[in-house]
Amino acid sequence: MKPIKVGLLGLGTVGTGVVRIVEGHQPDLQSQVGSPIVIEKVLVQNKSKERSISIHPDKLTEDAWDIIHNPDIDVIVEVMGGIETTKGYILEALARGKHVVTANKDLMALHGPEIIAAAQENNCDVYYEASVAGGIPIIRTLVEGFSSDRITKIMGIVNGTTNYILTKMSQEGAAYGDVLKEAQELGYAEADPTSDVEGLDAARKMTILATLGFRANVALEDVDVKGISAITREEILYAKRLGYEVKLLGIAERQDDYISVSVQPTMVKASHPIASVNGVFNAVYVYGEAVGETMFYGPGAGELPTATSVVADLVAVVKNLKLGVNGKQETLAYNEKKLKTDEQ
Ligand code: NAP
Ligand code: HSE
Repeated sequence: MKPIKVGLLGLGTVGTGVVRIVEGHQPDLQSQVGSPIVIEKVLVQNKSKERSISIHPDKLTEDAWDIIHNPDIDVIVEVMGGIETTKGYILEALARGKHVVTANKDLMALHGPEIIAAAQENNCDVYYEASVAGGIPIIRTLVEGFSSDRITKIMGIVNGTTNYILTKMSQEGAAYGDVLKEAQELGYAEADPTSDVEGLDAARKMTILATLGFRANVALEDVDVKGISAITREEILYAKRLGYEVKLLGIAERQDDYISVSVQPTMVKASHPIASVNGVFNAVYVYGEAVGETMFYGPGAGELPTATSVVADLVAVVKNLKLGVNGKQETLAYNEKKLKTDEQ
């Protein structure tokens, strides 16, 4: 049983969760894939930083090429964030035949098609379940679970930080700045939380969901975006008195060959199930012509929920390795078809 060796790029909130799950669930993982899964090397910015888990110092490196150019490493797990540098690392890893798991929606929303094409060229896998809705396996659900249906609408709360902020402002009358700080301390927010509060993180996620759900290339520029930074506590409490909760909703709709995608703060009737999605939780409604209405609910951010999705992707890669079918799965590939958007 040759161990599967993993190079981990990043040991922050998500990377720490990945190490905890790979180590803590090792017997369960091995029983599914038939080999030990070993975190061989870990990329960080600063090796001397104090960490919440103990990791052998020899495993840490500040040089990405120690991992990407290491012939012993089979799979790269990218949980460092960022776009251009990270894209370079991933393309180089794929060119060297390494499979990739990433939680990076910024990267996948902007460069997903190029990355997936590079993976297919090199018979490699790229999985990115954790990039949308943290612990909810919504990407697999859309691509595999609804492959038989024609999805007409995807709607939901796909950013944990803003939902955490809106919930605390509504339920406790908390101040926006204080709750944002809390969300950062809990590891929910992006390195630059502007992308959370201005709706860009949700827009990137909706781009991925609409692309996969509608089987069409939807670009980030096609999404109308408005965040929550201008919403006051008074407005939220006033809406509540009228029987509404304010939620940052992503809505993607398709009618015939017309698609629209938006992210905006929305007044949701308190009786609607989405009004009760609180804190860091996310919920995604999927409407299919055949299935009708479905809803998926769970933690949208945080160490272990997000790492659950990352490690599930890792298991999928290793199962493909055993079957010799890496890079063959169509399931997470973007379709070339481009549907009409608002601008056209
Ligand atoms: P984080 O806590 O800020 O951790 C980032 C890690 O990457 C740190 O260990 C950092 O090293 C390392 N790193 C960053 N830039 C680097 C560079 N240029 N070279 C070497 N190492 C670098 O981030 P996170 O919250 O875990 O998020 C990671 C990724 O997952 C992001 O793409 C994010 O959008 C995505 N994601 C996050 C969540 C969540 O709940 N946090 C959920 C879903 C997806 P040091 O430790 O030395 O600083
Ligand atoms: N910052 C993101 C959020 C992390 O709050 O939803 C999960 O993608």
